[in-house]
Amino acid sequence: MKFGYFDDKALEYVITTPRTPLPWINYLGCNDFFSIVSNTCGGYSFYKDAKMLRITRYRYNSMPLDSNGKYYYIQDGDVTWNPGWQPTQTPLDFYECRHGIGYSRFTAKKNGLKADLLNFVPLHDTCELNRLTLTNESEAPKSFKVFSYVEFCLWNALDDMTNFQRNLSTGEVEIDGATIYHKTEYRERRNHYAFFSVNAKPDGFDTSRDAFIGIYSPASAPDAIRNGGCTGSVASGWYPVAAHELHVTLTPGESKTFLFVLGYAENPKDRKWEAPNVINKAPARRLLAKYQTTEGADAAFAELKAYWENLLEGYHVESRDEKVNRMVNIWNQYQCMVTFNMSRSASYYESGIGRGMGFRDSCQDLFGFVHLIPEKARQRIIDIASTQFEDGSAYHQYQPLTRRGNADIGSGFNDDPLWLIAGTAAYIRETGDFSILDESVPFDNDEATCVPLFEHLTRSFEYTVAHKGPHGLPQIGRADWNDCLNLNCFSDTPGESFQTTGPSEGPIAESVFIGGMFVRYGKDYAKLCAHRGLLDKAKAAMTEVQKMEQTVLSAGWDGEWFLRAYDAKGQKVGSHECEEGKIFIEPQGFCVLAGIGVKEGKAEKALSSVEKHLDTKYGIRILAPSYSHYYLNLGEISSYPPGYKENGGIFCHNNPWVSIAETVLGHGTRAFDIYKKTCPAYIEDISEIHCTEPYVYSQMVAGSDAKYFGQGKNSWLTGTAAWTFVNISQHILGICPDYDGLRIDPCVPKGFGSYTVSRRFRGAMYRIHISNPDHVEKGIRKLTVNGKEVSGNLIPITEGVTKYEVEAVM
Ligand code: BGC
Ligand code: NOJ
Repeated sequence: MKFGYFDDKALEYVITTPRTPLPWINYLGCNDFFSIVSNTCGGYSFYKDAKMLRITRYRYNSMPLDSNGKYYYIQDGDVTWNPGWQPTQTPLDFYECRHGIGYSRFTAKKNGLKADLLNFVPLHDTCELNRLTLTNESEAPKSFKVFSYVEFCLWNALDDMTNFQRNLSTGEVEIDGATIYHKTEYRERRNHYAFFSVNAKPDGFDTSRDAFIGIYSPASAPDAIRNGGCTGSVASGWYPVAAHELHVTLTPGESKTFLFVLGYAENPKDRKWEAPNVINKAPARRLLAKYQTTEGADAAFAELKAYWENLLEGYHVESRDEKVNRMVNIWNQYQCMVTFNMSRSASYYESGIGRGMGFRDSCQDLFGFVHLIPEKARQRIIDIASTQFEDGSAYHQYQPLTRRGNADIGSGFNDDPLWLIAGTAAYIRETGDFSILDESVPFDNDEATCVPLFEHLTRSFEYTVAHKGPHGLPQIGRADWNDCLNLNCFSDTPGESFQTTGPSEGPIAESVFIGGMFVRYGKDYAKLCAHRGLLDKAKAAMTEVQKMEQTVLSAGWDGEWFLRAYDAKGQKVGSHECEEGKIFIEPQGFCVLAGIGVKEGKAEKALSSVEKHLDTKYGIRILAPSYSHYYLNLGEISSYPPGYKENGGIFCHNNPWVSIAETVLGHGTRAFDIYKKTCPAYIEDISEIHCTEPYVYSQMVAGSDAKYFGQGKNSWLTGTAAWTFVNISQHILGICPDYDGLRIDPCVPKGFGSYTVSRRFRGAMYRIHISNPDHVEKGIRKLTVNGKEVSGNLIPITEGVTKYEVEAVM
């Protein structure tokens, strides 16, 4: 069943009922000011950091689900309704939510009145605009009231939801005409405030939640609306909100537009005040002047649309498969941008106060983002590397605002260092900008320790070399990519953190997966050494890589597939000898994509075993059989009920690893089949089973051992976005950025047909037409670049050429 449809021309997903199986959300904002908005106007805003600078309040775990947001109430006669349906849930005569790229648009009709609400964050400013247009579609004049409502958060979102003994006394506001300022803690150490304004003279306002909604009333039936209007309350402590009341009269056919702005502003310390205890409103007034005219708002929206259209032109495919086209050209790239911006901080499943930026997550997010805005990726690499320690290990997470490593979780995730090589290599492949390796970057943000970025990569590489276990495989530490495989944890106390309990470095437990990573990214490291003229270093690195490859093939091989790990007692994990968790997806995907076992036939075997033991109709499970009880020696992985999350769920993140691995072996049909199974556009029809948004990937789909097999969870913020984009764009469609140029290496199903990719690359536009007259699955037999045939599959870069017409014949 579907709950909407794709409008590819408009780059939108159109939701046609508010009763989606879960809130289906969108993100507004590309730079510093961000909002989450659901298809019923739920969500919240923050500036840069969802924990430290939360602007509006949201209630996770609330009921009804998704019940705080930015709401507009329309009181028309006896009926009060919302354009986004929530919170009144008044049945609408028409409802539509169009989630677009960086904006959401709601259209609703009730009793002859139409509301059109457009929400977006302008590109260059720290505010969200809500443009509300009301049209009288009835035959008679209409007089009605509009109420706006936002609830402020007292900045630190965690403190806001826990420290009531203080917070209920600190709230402060100022009111200046139609603008309500939220200035809690401004009197002391903060020099920022938020504001909510409308470009009309309001007929009333409230700034106290108790006055507007009421102490014992639900948001669906605010006291002020039921009792005849706003009360003019001035919040002092308790719960500061901003609500406007507007009286509107429309003749038949007449429309009226209101522009609401929710903004954030900062003042220099010495210019905080306009008068004693009166905040300096100049920055807010500047924003309001810009956006509270129809021309200003329209221009900002047009600019946002043009910005995105231009970005998305960087990779555009025209194939016979419209679902591939829509995912590649629109939604997958969009999700990559969002994951790059948010890491794992703020979504409907990440509360914004938990994880901040992940080291490994951010490095991988780069893969799908770097072609969009390489300069931002460059800065991100430097920020991430700045949280590395001198021994090559790294903080597992850091806070976006301070860019400081998060000491609560610390380090010891032994895959982290290698992801830094991976992210940097992806950046250089895209841009050819080797100069990043010379950037001076500190360890643990201590400027006194600055060294060139290249030295950070060396430390990453050497960290693995120096931390091997008894079989010569990398030690796993707290965990590798699979945060839940905690082999050194041994937690038997409820509530204890699996991530930080136990010694971070066990000398025995080893990871085959990190072995695969080391082979894959160790080769990149060796190439970078060679490029710097460090030939001995490059050679030594390759010797280490080959040694690891042999170790994985021997100590990491189980007979029919790659082992997952050795635990702290040296016992096998992910072996046919195990009672449960006999086979894991990660080493099969990663070792084969690293090229391990290809010539020995082990790669073929491993992938057949995946198909045999892990495949389901909704994707490949992370392991099988799922663990049926808790294993002290394995940790969190066995804490989940069978079929969920890391315990046998379909982890969408590593499905593309297997798909890429299949392309390494030339299996185009199978690679594409794997791609389709988790790809949102292909499973739109089962939205009632899948539940999460049909336009973005979820982290996990419940596996076949779960009660709700096929149900998605944790949509949006997942490394799946980047890896699926890498898979489809580079390995299946085969347009792969390499150090010396674009490599054309498609691997498609026999009947995929010819297709064309437009690709922006190093300042030039490439138009690449790929035909497949012999219906093969892999390989280019003829490559013509600007009319000249070239040998091999690399498009050589010619100085000064900005347009490449490429013909590739498979
Ligand atoms: C989740 C993992 C996640 C980890 C982060 C676990 O509870 O299952 O997916 O990586 O938390 O701390
Ligand atoms: C989600 C985490 O963000 C990511 O870092 C981890 O690799 C996966 N879960 C698997 O555990």
